[in-house]
Amino acid sequence: MERTSPIGFFDSGLGGISVLRGALELLPGEDYLYFGDSLHAPYGVRPLEEVRQLSREGVGHLLEQGAKAIVLACNTATSAAAASLREEYPQVPIIGTEPALKPAVERHPGGRILVMATPMTLKEQKFFDLWEQFRDQAEIIPVPCRGLMEFVEQGILRGEELERFLLEKLDPFTKVPVDAVVLGCTHYPFLRGVLRKILGRRPEIIDGAEGVARQLRRRLEELDLLNPRETGGQVIFENSLEGPEMLELSESLLHYQDLE
Ligand code: DGL
Repeated sequence: MERTSPIGFFDSGLGGISVLRGALELLPGEDYLYFGDSLHAPYGVRPLEEVRQLSREGVGHLLEQGAKAIVLACNTATSAAAASLREEYPQVPIIGTEPALKPAVERHPGGRILVMATPMTLKEQKFFDLWEQFRDQAEIIPVPCRGLMEFVEQGILRGEELERFLLEKLDPFTKVPVDAVVLGCTHYPFLRGVLRKILGRRPEIIDGAEGVARQLRRRLEELDLLNPRETGGQVIFENSLEGPEMLELSESLLHYQDLE
């Protein structure tokens, strides 16, 4: 099938593929170009200015290749760079990602909600604003997870080392029952299986992929940019880390079936 103007997806690495999966489900006729900046991952522990600059370069690269819209499939890049990118490219729809706190609070009013994310996402103004908006409606507990995205970047989605890491991070917060866990980093949805094992059956595990896909469709509709094709969209992966490994891993994450 003929390739049309793609939707550009950007992440600091492979995590945004969890968001891409949501978009493909809702918009299977679109073409996608995914750029993962694994060479510079993780973003979440870098200075803000650096993340802003790296995001600018990544998005610039996607636009040079004709992307008709951009999805910042990265909470960290969204907090650091979405506002400045929208200023720089006012004519391009730029859809960001943020921790899905709204649905979590709506579904668990008065509940105890953990938000797992990178240190930067939890430190930035954007999260503070979200927290301010919902803090009266639930107990919101930020859990910075420095070091967690690295497992996904290496294709480690289960196993003892990962379980030990997660137990250590989550143990202090899970002594009292938890109602929901928001995955505020796009790498983490690939860890649902192992998270379920550690968190037990009770908490709902929530990510933002579906919300981003709906927002993307809405923006494309408004601007009359939706692809009229209903199926047959293609995905092309690119990565700043050269060599076939990251591209192969990207393909396998696109089709990965987790056990939750
Ligand atoms: N996938 C990213 C996010 O959603 C990022 C992680 C990182 O590079 O630290 O925040």
